[in-house]
Amino acid sequence: MPDAVADVAVAGGGLIGLGVAWRCAQRGLSVTLADDVLEAGASYAAAGMLAPVTEAAYGEEGLLELCRASLARFPAFVAEVEHASGIDVGLRTIGTMVVGFDADDMRALDELYDFQRELGLAVERVTAREARRREPALTPRLRGALQVADDHSVDARALHAGLLATAQAAGVRLVRSKVAALCVEHGRATGLRLADGTTLAAESVVLALGAWSASLPGVPPLPVRPVKGQILRLRGGAESPGPLGGTVRALVRGRPVYLVPSAHDRLIIGATVEEKGYDTTVTAGAVHDLLRDAIEVVPGVTELQLVETLARCRPGTPDNAPILGPSATPGLALATGHYRNGVLLTPVTSDAVAELLVSGKLPDLAAPFAADRFERWNQCG
Ligand code: GLY
Repeated sequence: MPDAVADVAVAGGGLIGLGVAWRCAQRGLSVTLADDVLEAGASYAAAGMLAPVTEAAYGEEGLLELCRASLARFPAFVAEVEHASGIDVGLRTIGTMVVGFDADDMRALDELYDFQRELGLAVERVTAREARRREPALTPRLRGALQVADDHSVDARALHAGLLATAQAAGVRLVRSKVAALCVEHGRATGLRLADGTTLAAESVVLALGAWSASLPGVPPLPVRPVKGQILRLRGGAESPGPLGGTVRALVRGRPVYLVPSAHDRLIIGATVEEKGYDTTVTAGAVHDLLRDAIEVVPGVTELQLVETLARCRPGTPDNAPILGPSATPGLALATGHYRNGVLLTPVTSDAVAELLVSGKLPDLAAPFAADRFERWNQCG
């Protein structure tokens, strides 16, 4: 016998799962969300960049559009969360600087500039001197920079805490137990089986387990894989405001690194991108490389205290875009595969999946990101 019945059971308590659960509850659905360790997923490691422009790559224009739509929703989303939870989630809207060191880095920045201009995005070339006027902690050794007005950041951990409080205040029931399997009866998803032996029966199930989405027993095949990221957190003295006003991304003689200021931990430095399965070991080599490159960009990083090193798995997909909406199993909705853009895509994913569960229709904006796109790819292949 099931121990609980809900309109919606959400598997996964990261930003995506919480956002979907909250929006569903706001729309009148009864929602239970299950997860055991809320710090185990990518949300806990995220630097909090809201970076549709500087994360954009050639061939990913569709994803860029979804990211920009989500960014446009961010101020209202944050205002609602802050109002409901009383937690300041540290939204910074002063833009992002991208800096380079050698001729190859500058060529890469030129390409980024041209691509962004082609797409009509706000980007400005900045001399090294001007870059240092805007961010005095930058090294005098950089060659030049771009200023991207529309890439922002948020404190991802504060946003998670805020969303958790907001979702629960809206009526979401949180069950702190590991999700063991998707329950399927007569080909339809009917709920979640938990590791503590209980079952959450639900009309609809939402899969928001990030990098673990494809490995949950009972879930139909999904092209989601873990992509390891190692990241560092540093702090100055209690009175120190931190070295940077806004996010700085750099190519340091071809090696990418980003430095994201944060109100709590003064600086977040990231991140590796590694195909290592579910390994979350922090390696000396990665810490060394990230610190070496960050210190090249901002020499004052040497004075900061290294307070945390960690690794988590991003949910990667073949086209780097999320998988949203219906699945091959009726009753199972997908909110996964957000790869490098999970924080940014939380508002649009939450709205789109809640809309699907309430009205039966995935909004047009999200429709290109449904799972059936991979079937079409396979047929073409
Ligand atoms: N969005 C940055 C990262 O995934 O490292």
